[in-house]
Formats: sequence, C-alpha cells, structure tokens
Amino acid sequence: MSSAIRDSDPQGVPASGQTGGASAGAIQFHYDLSDEFYRLWLDPGMSYSAALFEPGDTLETAQNRKLDHHIEQARAAERDRVLDVGCGWGSMLRRLVRTHGVKHATGLTLSRAQAAKIEAEKLPGVEVRLESWRDHKTDQPYDAIISVGAFEHFVRPNLPSAEKVRIYREFFEFCHESVRPMGHLSLQSISLGRLRAGEIDPFIKEMIFPESDLPYPWEILQAADGLFEVVQLRNDRSHYRKTCRAWYQNLQKRRVEAVELVGEAKVADYERYLRISIASFALRSLGLLRISFERLDPR
Ligand SMILES: C[S@@+](CC[C@H](N)C(=O)[O-])C[C@H]1O[C@@H](n2cnc3c(N)ncnc32)[C@H](O)[C@@H]1O
Repeated sequence: MSSAIRDSDPQGVPASGQTGGASAGAIQFHYDLSDEFYRLWLDPGMSYSAALFEPGDTLETAQNRKLDHHIEQARAAERDRVLDVGCGWGSMLRRLVRTHGVKHATGLTLSRAQAAKIEAEKLPGVEVRLESWRDHKTDQPYDAIISVGAFEHFVRPNLPSAEKVRIYREFFEFCHESVRPMGHLSLQSISLGRLRAGEIDPFIKEMIFPESDLPYPWEILQAADGLFEVVQLRNDRSHYRKTCRAWYQNLQKRRVEAVELVGEAKVADYERYLRISIASFALRSLGLLRISFERLDPR
C-alpha cells in the first residue's frame, strides 16, 4: 500500500507549513476530498471532531455542546479576539461570533476547501487564513485560543518521543506568545491509549491521515510544562466512539450519493476508517482528551 499524496506542498501555502507536522499536501489529501461528501455524514455545522453528548442529544446538539464546552473553558465568550487553530469548515468560528458575542474570530487551516467555504460565507467578525500556526503572526495577543482536532497532525509518524515533545512544545510556545497573560487555551486531541506508538494501523497512516501521528497524554503535558497550567483534563473516548458511530450510520444512509461523489473505493476506505475508529475508542486503544490550560508567566 502506498501513500497517495505528493511530497511537495501545493503552491500558495507557505513551505514552512511542512516543518514538524503534516504538510499542506497531506492535509488537503484528506480534507479537500469533497465538501459535498463530508456534508452527507457530518452534522449541519460540519464539525469534524468528537462531540460532547448528554442523554437524548442528537449529533448536532452534541457538537454544539462540544463547541460551547471549549468556548467556556477558553473563557472566550464576549471577548474581542479569539484564535481557532485548525478551524475545519468553521463551526467554532460561527459559534463564537453568532452565539457568544466574540467580536473577531480568526481561524487557521491548511485546507483550501475549508478556507474557501468559510470565506464564501462572509460572516461579519470571521477571518480565515490558509496558514499553519507555525507561520501565524499576530501584532496584538489573542484573548483566548481554541484548538480542536488539529494536534493529531502536528508531528510526522514514528518519531522518538523526545522529538515529538520538542515539536509539541513549539506549539505551546506559539500559544504562549499569542495569548494575553493569564489567557486560556482549550485543546482537544485524540491520544494513544492501550495502543502504543508505532502500532497505528498502516491503512490509517497511509490512506486516511498521511504524515500524522498521535500523542501520548503525558507528551502533551510535558510539552506544556512551565508554559501553561492545566486547569481541566477529561478523557471522553466514549463520546468519540458515539460520534464515529453517528457518522458511520449517516454515511450508510447516504451511501449511494457518497459513491456518486467520490467513488466506491473511497467510500469503502472511509467506512473501514470509521469502523476502526469506533473499535479503537471502545477498546481503549485510543483516548479523547479535552484539556484546558491557563498561561503561566514567571513569578
Ligand atoms: C479534524 S479537523 C478539525 C477541524 C475543526 N476544529 C473541527 O472540530 O471541526 C483538523 C483541522 O486541523 C487543521 N490543521 C492541521 N494542521 C494544521 C496546522 N499546522 N496549522 C493550522 N491548521 C492545521 C486542518 O486544516 C483541519 O482544519
């Protein structure tokens, strides 16, 4: 089985986006497949990460609950400037400005399709940039930072743990520089659980999420040490199992349209990826961390 992406980044995305984590090419291989395809099985807001379920929730209400959780943890409501690192198709940006009174929400993504969709909405107060956090500069600090489901792309596969921690620390240094003193960061990421580094299914690594690898929980905490204080940490792996199951069921219902859009082989790949994900969260092979942090400064 071979990786289906090109080595070099497509034109127009800064080359430094390649340093450390998945290249823009690898991100676009997955996320630029077809907006219409993703729309068939994600919730109407097109959140593409674990939802936060309460009894009786639909996928849509659980996705909104997840957005609100991070906005609350980041103390982002009613603020002037909030950054969303890895903004997907814009669900968090929309929630920030429409529901939580944020004046200016900036989203970063390496996906052209996602950036184009958000830009086309022309939502007042929302800005999207086709840019890695590595290249993002701000002249004024943000009031809060949120990053949901992007951390999984920040290192390439099979690196020694010390190297992963070094790269993750660059992300926390970026957040430390970019958020105001005592500002909060709310992070969500899949983590390695009983599954050990190097044991991720090669099908996932090559055909679904190329150039990406997952953190151990302690790698995240070690990387943030001294830069941020942990305020809250929860493992919601059962919520990701439920989310993937809802996505899988939606895809089954819309399978004929999905095949028309991306072909039988792609649909079969996504079914396999979602089935592997459901089992991995059920068996504790993977965890789903939601961690909130407050910026630390020298005493
Ligand atoms: C699984 S999606 C999650 C999107 C969104 N947060 C959500 O929950 O729906 C991962 C996102 O991370 C972005 N991403 C990956 N690496 C990035 C980087 N180095 N800088 C900025 N965004 C990145 C991708 O472009 C994509 O938008």
